[in-house]
Amino acid sequence: HLQPPNDSQMGGLRRENCRAKGASGGFKVAVLGAAGGIGQPLAMLMKMNPLVSVLHLYDVVNAPGVTADISHMDTSAVVRGFLGQQQLEDALTGMDLVIIPAGVPRKPGMTRDDLFNINAGIVKTLCEGIAKCCPKAIVNVISNPVNSTVPIAAEVFKKAGTYDPKLLLGVTMLDVVRANTFVAEVLGLDPREVDVPVVGGHAGVTILPLLSQVKPSFSFTPKEIDYLTDRIQNGGTEVVEAKAGAGSATLSMAYAAVKFADACLRGLRGDAGIVQCAYVASEVTELPFFASKVRLGRTGVEEIHPLGPLNEYERAGLEKAKKELAGSIQKGVSFIRK
Ligand code: NAD
Ligand code: LMR
Repeated sequence: HLQPPNDSQMGGLRRENCRAKGASGGFKVAVLGAAGGIGQPLAMLMKMNPLVSVLHLYDVVNAPGVTADISHMDTSAVVRGFLGQQQLEDALTGMDLVIIPAGVPRKPGMTRDDLFNINAGIVKTLCEGIAKCCPKAIVNVISNPVNSTVPIAAEVFKKAGTYDPKLLLGVTMLDVVRANTFVAEVLGLDPREVDVPVVGGHAGVTILPLLSQVKPSFSFTPKEIDYLTDRIQNGGTEVVEAKAGAGSATLSMAYAAVKFADACLRGLRGDAGIVQCAYVASEVTELPFFASKVRLGRTGVEEIHPLGPLNEYERAGLEKAKKELAGSIQKGVSFIRK
């Protein structure tokens, strides 16, 4: 019997060195929670991204299996697996981008905030590792409730003395992906031609699609606005109910996460004009965190776009969103400061 090479990392190391010498600019990316419903397709799609030279897959279960599987894909990224807390530091050391989809998902009848008790602690531990091992990495937080887990991450980094608000981004890309899809359906267009800004946060009324700013511009009827706003705000619940206890969005989320991570990496590479919506430390409203369009560059979030002109419907939505967001942010901050 031929044994699979147990020093399979040797080839990887050699390839890594070649790449460094060739200065082709590959990035090192870690996925924390890589064996999960989001983590697995996300890891697969990151392995297909030519900007990634090294891909670290970390989880508390099944990381070796997922790593062995994905490592056989004939794309250039070198894949390494890390299992359990004792390997977290190795997983994080040297990373340029860390993506966090670790944590429990919703079941029907739950809100995202119902996940706080479990996921807050998970995000805290992972961010303590990031502060120690790769404080200059860009961090993409997917774990819910995002409205609170991003403030938790910020507090952990502040405590460690490593906080750079330009490097911490809550992933709200799935709201944009859904909004583009649902609006395109109404307009009879290809979703790739549609751009819907979605601002605020990532839960219920905090998800605020700005339909007055849709590109290509279109004047929706009040009925269309009600339908679209409700569907975009409840897109996550639509999937949770359809999965009937088997979790929440994983495949569309992996797609959205990779679209967002790719934008972050292109920004890091120095590409111009990379703009996406994300939940970040912000002065766009009086709240310390808010999702809006941001420009991504070599240093992370380089510019936060203003909300632009809102109509009356959107101004009312903004007030509701801010009220709920304020509580979720405070809850995250208190979790670390208590
Ligand atoms: P899942 O249960 O399928 O996978 C989660 C993975 O996290 C599991 O493999 C688990 O072992 C791992 N994990 C648990 N504790 C960990 C720890 N301490 N360190 C590392 N890994 C750990 O769940 P999922 O469907 O992949 O969802 C993950 C999270 O993403 C949930 O909180 C969910 O609500 C959230 N989510 C967010 C968005 C968004 O738009 N931001 C969209 C969908 C889901
Ligand atoms: C989503 O929007 O799909 C995620 O936040 C998962 C959820 O719980 O809805």
